[in-house]
Amino acid sequence: MNLIFLGPPGAGKGTHAEVLSKTKNLCHLAAGDILRRNIKEGTSLGMEAKDIMAKGELVPDMLVNSMMFAEIKMLKVKGCEGFILDGYPRTIGQAEELDKFLASEKMTLTAAINFDASEAVVVERLSGRRLCAVDGKIYHVKNMPPKVEGICDCHGQPLVTRKDDQPETIRKRLAVYHESTKPLIEYYARKGILRNVQADGDAPLVQEKIAKLFEKVG
Ligand code: AP5
Repeated sequence: MNLIFLGPPGAGKGTHAEVLSKTKNLCHLAAGDILRRNIKEGTSLGMEAKDIMAKGELVPDMLVNSMMFAEIKMLKVKGCEGFILDGYPRTIGQAEELDKFLASEKMTLTAAINFDASEAVVVERLSGRRLCAVDGKIYHVKNMPPKVEGICDCHGQPLVTRKDDQPETIRKRLAVYHESTKPLIEYYARKGILRNVQADGDAPLVQEKIAKLFEKVG
């Protein structure tokens, strides 16, 4: 099963991809996480992406495409039965290149899941998001708090805030989403593989909706 998770920043793509990838044995390929790992490791891709991401803008298509294609090629080595692309593609150009790449690899997309969340909800979620500095596990100060305030459940380390979760950068990311990424909803609807999930509710409720969807998708 090969899936795309679409939706505005903070819609819950990462949170739910983490769960579904485990239940379906899929590789969770999160473009933002891979870029942040490159920044941490100081690769040339990371150095190019760093300032762009801090401003909430998009990293050039060419760089992101080759990064994601390399990850998809590793699926079999990792023993995954498919993938969830989280935060990729994010422009029509990326989606077209992905189509060509998948065709060349004789792979197809099963579904594009659109996490439909309102602006007020995503702003509240991003403002309260905290991450484990060791493995990136996602928390929220109110909605999904750790057992001990400010400390990761698994590693006992202080939680961190993403640099691009500042109010001004959140506004910029939302504007970029509306301009460049939202048109992908129509793109995948025309291909007949779009599935909508209303994502404003609590995480267990959204999880339930995703599970129901997969009773139909497979
Ligand atoms: P990326 O890391 O992909 O960020 P994003 O798309 O903006 O998405 P987020 O990770 O912010 O949100 P999410 O939907 O995963 O929400 P989450 O599950 O964490 O990209 C960052 C940057 O990298 C981009 O700005 C760009 O510069 C660059 N980039 C990435 N991909 C690119 C591409 N393809 N092309 C070019 N550039 C690219 O949830 C958010 C919070 O809400 C958490 O605290 C969580 O605990 C909480 N939460 C989640 N669901 C619920 C719920 N149902 N109820 C209550 N709380 C919830």
